[in-house]
Amino acid sequence: MTRRCTAAVPVLLLGLCGLAACGEPPLPVEELMNPATCQSCHPGHFTEWSGSMHAYASDDPVFLALNRKGQEETSGALGGFCVQCHAPLALQLGLTTDGLNLPDVPQWAKGVGCYFCHNVVEITGTHNNPIRLAMDQTMRGGLADPVDSPAHRTAFSPLVDAESQDSSAMCGSCHDIVTPAGVHLERTFAEWQETIFAHADPRRHVSCASCHMIVSTDVVAEGPGLDVPLRPFGRREHTFAGIDTALTPWPELANQRAAIRRDLKGALLPRLCVLPDAAGRIDYRLDNVGTGHMFPTGATADRRAWAEIVAYDDQDGVVFSSGLMPMNQPYTDPEALGDPNLWLLGTPARDAAGQSTELFWRIATLDHPGTLLPPSVTTDPQDPRFYHAVERGFAVPGLLPTIRRVTARVLVRPLPFALLDDLMASGHLTVDVRDQVPTHEVEGSVLEWTAGGSACVCPNGPPCP
Ligand code: HEC
Ligand code: HEC
Ligand code: HEC
Ligand code: HEC
Ligand code: HEC
Repeated sequence: MTRRCTAAVPVLLLGLCGLAACGEPPLPVEELMNPATCQSCHPGHFTEWSGSMHAYASDDPVFLALNRKGQEETSGALGGFCVQCHAPLALQLGLTTDGLNLPDVPQWAKGVGCYFCHNVVEITGTHNNPIRLAMDQTMRGGLADPVDSPAHRTAFSPLVDAESQDSSAMCGSCHDIVTPAGVHLERTFAEWQETIFAHADPRRHVSCASCHMIVSTDVVAEGPGLDVPLRPFGRREHTFAGIDTALTPWPELANQRAAIRRDLKGALLPRLCVLPDAAGRIDYRLDNVGTGHMFPTGATADRRAWAEIVAYDDQDGVVFSSGLMPMNQPYTDPEALGDPNLWLLGTPARDAAGQSTELFWRIATLDHPGTLLPPSVTTDPQDPRFYHAVERGFAVPGLLPTIRRVTARVLVRPLPFALLDDLMASGHLTVDVRDQVPTHEVEGSVLEWTAGGSACVCPNGPPCP
């Protein structure tokens, strides 16, 4: 629907087109659907987004391989299930029905583009992308008083206002997946709704965008002939950094990695103790203090997040370890270490026969929350859920006298190598991307204990609470 500013309905439409812009027709819808159109006036938004997983969502070779395998194994019954979130505009425009032709779909329609988020008018559900677009020339955002744009009409919408809870419903409706078999596979939105951040009081709530789209001191739009004031909150970052990165040549990889490192840094608060109990124990405690959901969240059947604990003697020889990857076998998944002490933060997913699987369409049960680290759900110290840190003990009987130094940290990686190996063996994945799979160190989780000091170490101690 195209709205026009006519003399008959001027008052109602003022907010939609702005006074001065009414004379100038905005760009046609087809041009506004192309993110490249936005680059000239919103260069920062464009550059950051172009490196994001939203931009990459239908180019990811693992996505393409999994979608194809899923279509084959279900004889096409999967249909548009995967592309409804990974290529939503292409699906709505009929440029694809099942994602099998994605390599031939024009690039502007792939992934989750600017138009898809900024043209939203209604959210009709809580999962599987129930977002309805206006398909008009109005870009919706959080500015109540935007200056006139020569390219598009503008309108305020709480659905894309980082200050509003409603914007979490927008993000969340794609960040919760219920599979065709009825398994609630990704639950970031449902998890967030239980936290202290989903508060009804607007002064106390923290939306997805407040944490994931931080503010800067740039203007919102720039370019010849534009007179745009600097907004109190500048503009919002559009890197959408998480855990995943592009596995094939793609813009902005270094900046994505830097944003991931920055965002992971404050996610967890750790404590490491070496105790004489029962002849020796290493305790590692992790508190999910910085996220607005479980850690990790979302694609938790795929994510591999684990604790690495290493104890050294005074020759720097390893006398005990858990979660330590062998140097000479770079493609090892943590569960393949055969480590009886392994502390894996995840949700085991199984098929109908009880076998573990990452293949969405086969998953029958998901053990949620499994061993994910829970977020803050109450501010009441009397509530038993107030204290939500999780601690694991690693027995080191008899070793204490030899232990000189202990290091602990959390590592996280988007996908298991075994899945990639399977997809390569079956011919669905034709490029070897294993060297591109990142393993991130959660910087804030890193601690080192040395003999002779306090029993416990933590970021601002000892003493450690
Ligand atoms: C010719 C320049 C120009 C182009 C091209 C352009 N914009 Fe804008 N846009 C502006 C100006 C100017 C503003 C107002 C900024 C302000 O008031 O701070 C704006 C504001 C916005 C807003 C905020 C609206 C609100 O009310 O919060 C969004 C969202 C937006 N643009 C999205 C886009 C998208 C998406 C594209 C590409 C399809 C695009 N723009 C292309 C100039 C442009
Ligand atoms: C996943 C959804 C999503 C995508 C994709 C997206 N944006 Fe945004 N954008 C938002 C949200 C949410 C805000 C915050 C609005 C607010 O609170 O002011 C925003 C804000 C903006 C604003 C308003 C000023 C600001 O920074 O706060 C502009 C302009 C904008 N985006 C342009 C773009 C352009 C251009 C693209 C593509 C290159 C894009 N956006 C892609 C969700 C998205
Ligand atoms: C149309 C559906 C859709 C909407 C709306 C959406 N997302 Fe996403 N988002 C995705 C998909 C699909 C991916 C994964 C792409 C991939 O990795 O292939 C993703 C990835 C991400 C990632 C990176 C995850 C990782 O582990 O690397 C973050 C962070 C993110 N989104 C945040 C947001 C926020 C914040 C909003 C709201 C402002 C939002 N998303 C709205 C579909 C959506
Ligand atoms: C209080 C701040 C906060 C809020 C609120 C929040 N997040 Fe996060 N989120 C984080 C942090 C910190 C991380 C970990 C850093 C990282 O993964 O880069 C994270 C990680 C993620 C990831 C990547 C996780 C993974 O394991 O793949 C996604 C996707 C995501 N958030 C989406 C959302 C969505 C959607 C919402 C709203 C429903 C939301 N977040 C609300 C702080 C927040
Ligand atoms: C409801 C929306 C939605 C649907 C449907 C969906 N995805 Fe995703 N997908 C996401 C989001 C959101 C992420 C990012 C997850 C995160 O980081 O929390 C993602 C991430 C991914 C990734 C990146 C690697 C990983 O595991 O994180 C792959 C691959 C993927 N999805 C494949 C698929 C396939 C194949 C299907 C269909 C069987 C599918 N997705 C269906 C939203 C969706």
